Amino acid sequence: MSDLFVELKAPNGHKYKQPRGLFINNEFVASQSGETITSINPSDESEIASVYAAGPEDVDKAVAAARKAFKDPSWRDMDTNARSDLLYKFAQLIEQHRETLATIETWDNGKPYQVSLNDDLGEVINTIKYYAGYANKIHGQVIDTSPAKLAYTVREPLGVCGQIIPWNFPLAMAAWKLGPALCTGNTVVLKAAEQTPLSILYLASLVKEAGFPPGVINIINGEGRKAGAALASHLDVDKIAFTGSTATGKEIMKMAAVNMKNITLETGGKSPLLVFDDAELDQAVKWSHVGIMYNQGQVCTATSRILVQEGIYDKFVEAFKEHVSKASVVGDPFKDDTFQGPQVTKTQFERVLSYIEAGKSDGAKLIAGGEAFKDVGGKGFFIAPTIFTDVKDNMKIYREEVFGPFVVISSFKTEEEAIERANDTTYGLGAALFTQDITKAHRVARLIEAGMVWINSSNDSDIRVPFGGVKQSGIGRELGEAGLEAYTNRKAIHVNLGTRL
Ligand code: NAI
Ligand code: MG
Repeated sequence: MSDLFVELKAPNGHKYKQPRGLFINNEFVASQSGETITSINPSDESEIASVYAAGPEDVDKAVAAARKAFKDPSWRDMDTNARSDLLYKFAQLIEQHRETLATIETWDNGKPYQVSLNDDLGEVINTIKYYAGYANKIHGQVIDTSPAKLAYTVREPLGVCGQIIPWNFPLAMAAWKLGPALCTGNTVVLKAAEQTPLSILYLASLVKEAGFPPGVINIINGEGRKAGAALASHLDVDKIAFTGSTATGKEIMKMAAVNMKNITLETGGKSPLLVFDDAELDQAVKWSHVGIMYNQGQVCTATSRILVQEGIYDKFVEAFKEHVSKASVVGDPFKDDTFQGPQVTKTQFERVLSYIEAGKSDGAKLIAGGEAFKDVGGKGFFIAPTIFTDVKDNMKIYREEVFGPFVVISSFKTEEEAIERANDTTYGLGAALFTQDITKAHRVARLIEAGMVWINSSNDSDIRVPFGGVKQSGIGRELGEAGLEAYTNRKAIHVNLGTRL
């Protein structure tokens, strides 16, 4: 075996062949510089494997492959039923390799295996199937003007799409971006996050078998500031889709300006969750837990700011603390009863600890956690689920995205105050609210500045429903039918049927 593959045995005993190359033109290749990235198991800090990291010269190669494929009749003129079949076949292959993909995801990212297997892989498969179904339903309109004109629109792919994904849901983020781009006839260069480089390469190994022509899907690893920046600023890339931090999103916007790329950005959040006095307490508590503690708190839409009306504040805080202590079982992600694994990297682990220090020094009240969790073999990036109460609106921990099992709770008096404080943020991704009064629920939902509002739940997003933010949480929408907008242009064609000069 060349050094482009390595045989690995995961902590759950699962053996598989891990690709290490850059996937360009349906082949794994080494990076031209020979540079690599080492992937770390966040549960015990051991090295798993190293993979090739793209530099600008490799990005050029991948973009050229995607451009050639975009123009090639084998893809450009493919019957849309065939394109649908191709995506469906891809989804079936992913299903066949589900255990391997879930194993890699858990090993590299640290999320519980049952979550990888059921939630993440379930979402990947459903997303690809969902967009497979759209491949033969992309059409324009005939627009009536006058008998002297036939005006119609066709929906065209944008061209070569650069896609930059984060490490919190590596495969799911890839599926959200590949599905709509491919069903509309684009070609893709996708860059994975350097923190989680492994699962995406295994996914790439299924592309050729599914039958995609060479160059339609290119998948690379590489540092954000090298490979990511090369993609975002590339003159032959037509679109850039990004999920990650708001700061990097702004950098990408600037780089994309170089040739006025179409952009979709899905960035950070500090999403509020409002609990009104009339809420069903038990349900508010359970959803609030899922809303912030799921996926180690590493979710862009995590409802990380809980605002509770004063009449039930004390009861809520007590019940929430009790529920977190039982439900948030921290441990080895390969164990079945684990709810919370390690943070993805040492950097993220230290970042969460620094916010714990900020909360303490700013005078918020720590009622749970507040330290590293050391009971999983003494190693790894585990954090004890952390709750701060009596948090003031000007505190750093109330205003900034932490991205960990870390929540702040504060109280409010009136509905008006709740809305004002929910909106007092530069972000606008998700929001949740709990009340049994349906009139109030819909009224408040309309007044909250967010791309998504959950009434009496939190974070139960669905791939059939648009996902995205307002304010500094992003631009554009992914998922659902709305997700197709991000990958097509509407070309207008005017046919003169009688206007003579
Ligand atoms: P990041 O936004 O820097 O990284 C996300 C992706 O962007 C990665 O693929 C990375 O390689 C790429 N990237 C980084 N710099 C780039 C550049 N200059 N040009 C092009 N691509 C670039 O996020 P990071 O540093 O991993 O995490 C920091 C914080 O960002 C987290 O603590 C969290 O608050 C937030 N974040 C939000 C995510 C979300 O789902 N919205 C996902 C990941 C992080
Ligand atoms: Mg890792």
